[in-house]
Amino acid sequence: MKVNLQDNFSISKLVIGCMRMNEWNFSIEQRVEFVEWCIEQGITTFDHADIYGGNHHNEALFGEVLKMKTQLRDEMEIITKCSMCVRNDENPNIKTRYFNTDREYIINQVNKSIEKLNCDYIDLLLIHMHDLLVNPKELNDTLNQLRDEGKVRYFGLSNHNPLEFDTLQKYVDVKFVTHQIMLHPLGIENYKNGTMTHCLKEGIHPMFWSPLAGGRIFNPTNALEENMKNVLEGIRQELHLEEIDEVIYKWLLMHSSDPTIVLGTGNRERIKRAIHSLEGMQMTREQWYKILIEAGYKLW
Ligand SMILES: NC(=O)c1ccc[n+]([C@@H]2O[C@H](COP(=O)([O-])OP(=O)(O)OC[C@H]3O[C@@H](n4cnc5c(N)ncnc54)[C@H](OP(=O)(O)O)[C@@H]3O)[C@@H](O)[C@H]2O)c1
Repeated sequence: MKVNLQDNFSISKLVIGCMRMNEWNFSIEQRVEFVEWCIEQGITTFDHADIYGGNHHNEALFGEVLKMKTQLRDEMEIITKCSMCVRNDENPNIKTRYFNTDREYIINQVNKSIEKLNCDYIDLLLIHMHDLLVNPKELNDTLNQLRDEGKVRYFGLSNHNPLEFDTLQKYVDVKFVTHQIMLHPLGIENYKNGTMTHCLKEGIHPMFWSPLAGGRIFNPTNALEENMKNVLEGIRQELHLEEIDEVIYKWLLMHSSDPTIVLGTGNRERIKRAIHSLEGMQMTREQWYKILIEAGYKLW
């Protein structure tokens, strides 16, 4: 299943997040097999960032797949992000984390991503976090340059509040085609701060990252998390689903903005459950609001 972001550009409703790819400990053969399997399942979009994998460089792990099977490039959409500067092997002199959206920095990061990923272009580039020192006019020139040079096809933002999003969009010629934001039953800030409503207003299909709260939902560490697990378990039984991850995916997908979900697992059984959650019975409004309220949203 695909979601159309703009013109002829669509991504798959489920996206494989590559942030933990180094933790999966796949051999190169297993990585190739995994990517091929995902594409066979209809999951054709892969989400990266220049910083994923820390010193392990997950973009390069993925690039090895494309080096081995170059034909796969035409069957997928590649997303990557930049703007977060952190200390790693490549940047050992960084002492304090910070954000950077300077022209030279972004162009350099995109060139590095393209090289590591072993591809000629990025389908979708996201500004990873809002840079408080951003110069919107300079950003416009940068994005236009990347588009004109054929290095990036489409652009979007990640982790910006509605005002930050609108301010950048005002100065940037290209339309931001998506907003990648955190959303899960232990983290509903984007419902509270108006970001989800902003997506509806602007006709933006959001991408939800850490849909399972990074796995925390399965191993509660406090009373609120324990309560949420019980609530999800109750709804799982009512819907006759196998595991609570399916309940969460169904909950995330109920929003009218037609969102996409960035999965964090490399486990095929879990990915199959995510696919299964796209089908069959939806939860009721009452069940949906129950999760929202237990997550800490005050209706009145
Ligand atoms: N834009 C941003 O700022 C941003 C920030 C963070 C992440 N992201 C993107 O979002 C993607 C997903 O984030 P995420 O990895 O945090 O997603 P997630 O789905 O919330 O968490 C994945 C973790 O949950 C574990 N898990 C899944 N099902 C489980 C189960 N039934 N029982 C126990 N553990 C389970 C996984 O382990 P297994 O691998 O063993 O299944 C994995 O460690 C990332 O890869 C990245 O692409 C974007």
